[in-house]
Amino acid sequence: MIGPKGDKMDITESTNQPKKVSPKKSGGIDSELSKLGNNLVTKFHVLMRITQIYDSKNVALNQFVTEFLDTINTLINREGVLSLKIIKNDFFLNDQPLRYSVEGFTSFKYLLTQWKKRLIGEVTFKTLMTEEMLRYFIYAFINLEEGCEENANLLKKQLENRHITSIEATPLEVVEDDEEAFTLQKEDQREVGKKIFFETIGTIKEVITNIKGNQHADVRKLKRLAQKAIHLVIEDESILLGMTMIKNYDEYTFNHSVNVSIYALAIGKRLGFSKKTLAELGITALLHDIGKSKIPREILNKPAALDNEEWELMKKHPLAGVEIVLNLKQLGEINPRMVVGIFDHHLTSDLSGYPKLYRKKEVSLFGRIIQIADAYDAMTTPRIYKKIPYTPEQALALMLLEKAVHFDPLLLKIFIGLVGIYPLGSLVLLNTREIGIVYKPNSDGNCLDRPTILLVDRDAEGNPVKEMVSLAETDGEGNYKRSIVKTLDPYKYHIDIAKYFL
Ligand SMILES: [Fe+2]
Ligand SMILES: [Fe+2]
Repeated sequence: MIGPKGDKMDITESTNQPKKVSPKKSGGIDSELSKLGNNLVTKFHVLMRITQIYDSKNVALNQFVTEFLDTINTLINREGVLSLKIIKNDFFLNDQPLRYSVEGFTSFKYLLTQWKKRLIGEVTFKTLMTEEMLRYFIYAFINLEEGCEENANLLKKQLENRHITSIEATPLEVVEDDEEAFTLQKEDQREVGKKIFFETIGTIKEVITNIKGNQHADVRKLKRLAQKAIHLVIEDESILLGMTMIKNYDEYTFNHSVNVSIYALAIGKRLGFSKKTLAELGITALLHDIGKSKIPREILNKPAALDNEEWELMKKHPLAGVEIVLNLKQLGEINPRMVVGIFDHHLTSDLSGYPKLYRKKEVSLFGRIIQIADAYDAMTTPRIYKKIPYTPEQALALMLLEKAVHFDPLLLKIFIGLVGIYPLGSLVLLNTREIGIVYKPNSDGNCLDRPTILLVDRDAEGNPVKEMVSLAETDGEGNYKRSIVKTLDPYKYHIDIAKYFL
């Protein structure tokens, strides 16, 4: 559904003046509220788990109730009232969509499942709470019978019996989907994709932290996650490719490893790799920068250019990575391809890369795949020393310029086919004067310029409206309904592309 013409973003070819979209209106929630909301969900999750272990009188519970109370009351003090509500698969805090942080993913998932099981769709806290009120509420909530449609009413009555009238619950609204079952299945896959993506980031973080602290790193989980990712990539690579748009500035190393792995797997799939080879490639890509765990944080996060000494240290990360991987016993059988792939991910066949070699060497296939994935992700991610990254289109253009000397031209061609002529995540202006985000490349190689677009629009009240359209769609006379006029820079329009892929 699109709002009346007058409400559309006014972007015209003639003036070419971007109209600023305020962060709030572009579908966001202010960052402090978002932090508090994430905190609320985490505390709610922890408390729900604890209440399943201890009875309501147990002192072990006190600390958790207090923390939950603090978060709730901070929010009520700020907002006057606090409503947490589920719409489809998202939580809304006082009617604003709540985006979860990487760390918050498990809590969001847990809460969503538990609420849905109990058919509770919204809980409102209308006045400041006390510990006793919350303690009673959480036990009443946890003891609701799964699947009972009367739950919201029952909860209300139970609370009223204790003279608690300032907590209200409403039943879950089952959204009647008019789309086909196919779409629902796609939604499920997207949820699976999110789960794999965030779990892998969490796991790689654990592995890197342990290696840093010279502790035992458990990589079996990483292997399992890589297997799951491969299944999904084989079925529909666009889901995980979409996830790579989620660029987390603070968690660069972890996000980067996962993104490089997704790109590498998608390239490997196009090359017809077996599942076994894909698994090796996926793990190699996940661990390609593991050697950086031995480089001081100050150097990794230095906002300025590295001096000579620092740069020499930085150049040691491929070799350090090889050493680490060879010592990871749980990786099981290590194929030499994996070790070599890590070793030469910054090597060029003309010896201009690093580590320094004295004889020319062909860069391995894994190495060449990872180089492309690595460069593309690094260029399109904001970094401490380059806060505004290249747009996907600019990054590809730069890589093409370098192709003769650096990137494997055939692999680069495959990669461009993957992310499209209009790469995934590009912001584009259409000939209908609508603007949108390239959401999924066209799977037909002859129609690479006709991807699926997520229109970014507003309804009459100024709320963001999302609509998915295929540029391959034609009208009755066979003319394309919409075409791309040009790409736009999302930073100029204050549009956070990542949000649209979550
Ligand atoms: Fe690297
Ligand atoms: Fe890298």
